[in-house]
Amino acid sequence: MTWFNREKRDLPWRHRKNPYRVWVSEVMLQQTRVDTVIPYYNRFMERFPTIEALAAAEPDEVVKYWEGLGYYSRVRNLHQAVREVVAVYDGVVPEEKERFEKLKGVGPYTTGAVLSIAYNQPEPAVDGNVMRVMSRQFGIYDDIAIPKTRKIFEQVVRRLMDPSHASDFNEGVMELGATVCTPKNPMCSLCPVQDDCYAYTHNVQDELPVKTKKGAARIEMYDALYCRQDGRAAYVKRPDAGLLAGMWQYPLTDRGTGEQLNGTYIGQVKHVFSHIVWYIDLYEVETLPVGEWTWLDEEARDVVTVSVAQQKLEQMAGAKDETV
Ligand code: ADE
Repeated sequence: MTWFNREKRDLPWRHRKNPYRVWVSEVMLQQTRVDTVIPYYNRFMERFPTIEALAAAEPDEVVKYWEGLGYYSRVRNLHQAVREVVAVYDGVVPEEKERFEKLKGVGPYTTGAVLSIAYNQPEPAVDGNVMRVMSRQFGIYDDIAIPKTRKIFEQVVRRLMDPSHASDFNEGVMELGATVCTPKNPMCSLCPVQDDCYAYTHNVQDELPVKTKKGAARIEMYDALYCRQDGRAAYVKRPDAGLLAGMWQYPLTDRGTGEQLNGTYIGQVKHVFSHIVWYIDLYEVETLPVGEWTWLDEEARDVVTVSVAQQKLEQMAGAKDETV
């Protein structure tokens, strides 16, 4: 904690700390790097500075502020949970674990992070950073790819933390994992707990944490149809549930459709989700197959929310247009 208070990075959610700001930051930081999160966090807080402001906004606008961050169910759930806090708890983020953990989208990590960092409650907040630090420090070889392994590390944290300094303890361990005890080439010479570290003294930093490989991702192949008319392009809104729910994209069709329509091949986009890989061939076409398409001009396009995969397609279509 002495190290943390000396070395901690100056991050936007460490200013004007309140439970709402901590909550939003912790949700954004799940699966996403700090450098990526910072500009999104600042824009989000400028538009939704209070929990009431976020609760009052329309879901589509809230998702728009998340555009490009991925894992969009995070923000849909956060929005629902925040609306519940305003409706049921008068806008005060509940401090009681039994209440907080029942909110939409809130799991053990978010519960521990918000209750400890915002309310200094002695709860563990175990993410990948924390498991990496603790597995190395104590030589714990349990497989962190297995969900129930998190419980082992929660026990370790409970025994280790000073209950009156839960906030600095948890955030300090996360910070150590993010900046010093990194997955590759950890900077052990800068580490405040080097002398006690099992991995350092046994020189097994590369072996810990143990993490088995994920199964192969599912491969999906599509054609995307880029169809222009009078300064507009054809889009379709994805269904309201499932992958990339409610987001807009060029018509995405079975492989072969672009060719059947005599389209001009523009190029291929690859996009990796956590468990699916998309290979999309982009074609410019004059006509579209039968279906529900919407024509969006540039102004309308800027208002709707699109996925990163769609951003890649648009960039590729735009680059092709410029060379014509
Ligand atoms: N990763 C997730 N939450 C974090 C935090 N509060 N500080 C540093 N890294 C983090």
